[in-house]
Amino acid sequence: MVYEVPGRVREGAATPVSSMDRYREHYAKAANDPNQFWLDVTKSRIHWRKEPTEGLRGSFSTIQDGPLCWFADGELNITESCLDQHLESRGDKVAILWEGNEPGENRRITYRELHGMVCQAANALRELGLKKGERAIIYMGMVPEAAVAMLACARLGAIHSVVFGGFSADALADRIRDCGAELVITQDFAYRGKKQIPLKATVDDAVQAAPSVKKVLCVKRTGGEVAWDGNRDVWWHEAVDAASTEHAAEIVDAEHPLFILYTSGSTGRPKGVVHTSGGYITYTAYTHATVFDLREDDVYGCVADIGWITGHSYIVYGPLANGATSLMFEALPTYPDAGRYWDMVERLKISIFYTAPTAIRALAAQGDEFVTKYDRSSLRVLGTVGEPINPEAWEWYHRVVGDGGCNIVDTFWQTETGGIVISPIAPATPTKPGSATFPMPGIFPVLKTAEGQTVRGPGDGLLCMEHPWPGQARTVWGDHPRFVATYFDMMPGHYFTGDGCRRDEDGYHWITGRVDDVINVSGHRMGTAEFESALVSAEEVAEAAVVGFPHEIKGQGVYAYVVAQPGQTIDVGSLNGTVRSQIGAVAKVDKFQVVPGLPKTRSGKVMRRILRKIAEGRGNELGDVSTLADPTVVDTIRDGFQGTA
Ligand code: WT7
Repeated sequence: MVYEVPGRVREGAATPVSSMDRYREHYAKAANDPNQFWLDVTKSRIHWRKEPTEGLRGSFSTIQDGPLCWFADGELNITESCLDQHLESRGDKVAILWEGNEPGENRRITYRELHGMVCQAANALRELGLKKGERAIIYMGMVPEAAVAMLACARLGAIHSVVFGGFSADALADRIRDCGAELVITQDFAYRGKKQIPLKATVDDAVQAAPSVKKVLCVKRTGGEVAWDGNRDVWWHEAVDAASTEHAAEIVDAEHPLFILYTSGSTGRPKGVVHTSGGYITYTAYTHATVFDLREDDVYGCVADIGWITGHSYIVYGPLANGATSLMFEALPTYPDAGRYWDMVERLKISIFYTAPTAIRALAAQGDEFVTKYDRSSLRVLGTVGEPINPEAWEWYHRVVGDGGCNIVDTFWQTETGGIVISPIAPATPTKPGSATFPMPGIFPVLKTAEGQTVRGPGDGLLCMEHPWPGQARTVWGDHPRFVATYFDMMPGHYFTGDGCRRDEDGYHWITGRVDDVINVSGHRMGTAEFESALVSAEEVAEAAVVGFPHEIKGQGVYAYVVAQPGQTIDVGSLNGTVRSQIGAVAKVDKFQVVPGLPKTRSGKVMRRILRKIAEGRGNELGDVSTLADPTVVDTIRDGFQGTA
């Protein structure tokens, strides 16, 4: 079924892709001459000090020799695109529209003010010793200073790594050590609904295990009491407020790293995904304007957290490069009640709203009145991201939130892709609920069989991309071979996403979910290996295997099989405490099963396929288990399965 969603098209919009014909035109242009296509895009949106003459250098087939380059001979500082280039035409336009924890607690920061704040912070960071190419960790909640800190690092040519506030001191210390940061920017506490999260105290703990840190810059948000090291700790309001509001941006090469963002994979510790300057800012600006049909007077509200890539690309960098008014939301969708988003839509006249399917499902379960009692007539485009959206949730978003009159854009992308790669374009693309529809111009998806055969026409396969695009990650911090091994070894000459995908008879793409050992819990990407290593760190646990299972609200839940050390018993009640201290509040096992052993092949490899089936409640569809070292273990596990509902 194809919905021809009319949307609320207004006069005078100069959008890049306003119809399917225009989409096909742009797509063909990008296919025929990608270099020219992207050079045109970047010159029209991005402020270069030295305009690039070159498009792509390198290819997926030569990636093992070194990272790809886009616009290699160009020079810029991306904050000039996000700030300086708007001062004349949009100086008094609101850049960041902040909604604090309490409804109606707002700050409206204009482009001129934001420019001044970023310059002040850049001067203060410089004073604290931060230099071009050095790393700074940002461990903060959703306060404007978090975006200011990111931009201030970029202003200096320093590399930021934002760590989500739901990660523990251990996880934070790991990331600090991996990138060798000497500076951490944090805040005393973060408000999160009724709770206060002690961010500074967690930094204090992390720094014990990460002695590279010389300075901690701390924003006072709640005024709660914090421990203070007079040699190391500096208050933001003391260092930043006194600094000059002028700062000459450090001009860098197009491929100078902009940030590192740690993300979970199939194996091992989280990887520090590296995004660089010119290509990333071009791609996020282009996709933000195109997918959401951005207009000058839009109030754009993405309710993600800047700890994830969505916050980087579509709260801070893309929207600011486009001169948009971008919301920063500090609270929770259910605080003080399940009407918070729509209350905000009414008060702030939000026209483009962007959230995750998990939030939509959770809010739909609370009933329509939380939505319908607010005026949502300002809304025009509704986006989703982070996980597949089930058609029921899509329909609810469209019918109830959008009153049947908004375009829905189900945007598929990843930390590694930098920006949206498969998505409807509002209002051009006719949508099908649950389908991310078509690739963006410049994106060439290919479906592959496990054997590497290309699936042509309708069919199912492993989702790969054929040609580089400017916004994609360049490398893994300090470990290019790992980057190559993770994304390019599987299908030589192609980028492999880790997702499965079905293409239907109309050419629509339906993402079927991860095909590796990554699970997606409430749109948060978690590595099963990280859970397992946290669980086996508990003294009484000998072995652990973690898989995902379908969960009504969260998309996927976490199912852990644990084996006790000989002579010991496992109290599963305490194990989530261990997981929490190793990974953070963001990680929680939903369901434990104590088992006598794990199903393994004769060579000792855990058969995760079997464990996944059992956790899904499909233990009667296991197929041949005769190759297992001990097939009887399967019966015991199956008999012990408690159901997951
Ligand atoms: C994984 C990437 C991209 C920002 C947030 C997540 C899943 C993401 C969709 C979608 C189906 C989706 C994929 C992907 N995913 N968007 N619209 N439909 N699946 O970024 O943490 O890097 O996770 O999220 O499985 O691989 P991330």
